[in-house]
Amino acid sequence: MSQLDIFPDSKKLSIAAAAFIIRQAQYAIAGSGRFILALSGGQTPEQLFRILRTPPFTTQMPWQQTFVFWGDERCVPLEDQFNNAHAALDILLNHVEIPEENIFRIPADQAPVAAAWQYEKTLQEVLGPDLPQFDLILLGLGGDGHTASLFPGTAVLHEKIRWVKEVTADVQPVHRITLTLPVINNARNILFLVSGKGKSSILKRVLSPAPGQENFPAQLVQPLHGLVHWYTDADAASEL
Ligand code: 6PG
Repeated sequence: MSQLDIFPDSKKLSIAAAAFIIRQAQYAIAGSGRFILALSGGQTPEQLFRILRTPPFTTQMPWQQTFVFWGDERCVPLEDQFNNAHAALDILLNHVEIPEENIFRIPADQAPVAAAWQYEKTLQEVLGPDLPQFDLILLGLGGDGHTASLFPGTAVLHEKIRWVKEVTADVQPVHRITLTLPVINNARNILFLVSGKGKSSILKRVLSPAPGQENFPAQLVQPLHGLVHWYTDADAASEL
């Protein structure tokens, strides 16, 4: 089941997303004592990161019980501006009271195949031997309908066993590591953040597909027991 919320602009979208994350964190911790979160990459979440590091949001967020992972990573060094963890650390995580041992970066400096196996091992060590169940996975939407690093036409879309896989994308950086659909679709909550006029066409094609229209990877995000929340701004929703 999915729900769409449209906000007047990207700032209001990001504030609402911050409040949503805090609510999910408080709910998860009340239940299990910890909040298992996967961050998305790209530029859209950067405004959200800036909001989450400022009061009152940063003081409401239970950082000590929050465990941060990534939905995907580009195989570039941490200091590279295209590294997803670089932005999240630089804008948010280095500025809040989250214990360093609660942050689990994808080891993108390793060879892609080894990095995928290593991250899968990390998930098993931290979350247990069964298919991991994230309390919340943040996702973005690419212009081609990709999400995380699940790109159209890639074999990873059909992966049923592995939790983490290496991907060769047709956009730079080409080598990436991504959570697979079995993990993403086992999440309790998915939050897509989609902002800007440039996403209006793909958002319409994903949310209101014409009959027989091709399946976009983002449409394959259908959690078995979870909810999909779409947070968009008016520009991105202008064709809906
Ligand atoms: C990545 C992201 C990717 C991103 C979308 C949207 O590593 O590229 O995880 O899935 O969320 O491409 O990116 P923007 O927010 O920059 O438009």
